[in-house]
Amino acid sequence: MKRRDFMRLGLVGAGLMTLQAAPSLATETKNTPLVGAGGLFYTKENTGRWVGKEGTHFPTAEIQKLAGGVSIKVTTAHEMNGFEHYIVKHVLLDKNFQFLNEHFFNPNVDKAAISTFALPNYTGTLHILSLCNKHDLWLNSIEL
Ligand SMILES: [Fe+2]
Repeated sequence: MKRRDFMRLGLVGAGLMTLQAAPSLATETKNTPLVGAGGLFYTKENTGRWVGKEGTHFPTAEIQKLAGGVSIKVTTAHEMNGFEHYIVKHVLLDKNFQFLNEHFFNPNVDKAAISTFALPNYTGTLHILSLCNKHDLWLNSIEL
């Protein structure tokens, strides 16, 4: 494993482990400020040191209802400039910030940061993370 890949995975792991280790996050709703917003992760409202980057880093979601669940199409309107600057992955977490699914991108193949997830029988808050290799971790929370 290359040093850069190791560091990238470490950052993602540390970020997700910290989210999971903060149970107070799980009790908050989308209408209350999330602990860590603007520091550990970034939101549309809390851009922290990345002011002006929200338009190309905040993940958006399109929901399509299916029989027995929904399909979530996640998009980050970000360039995919090879391994120089790209979206590493999208991650879905449940209302308690527990891992549901993820999609890794290959910037040599993927021309856009778009992923699709099937979520059978899930309702409530869904947290969506998008990780840029240069501009950190961005969170959107939606209600299903
Ligand atoms: Fe970026």
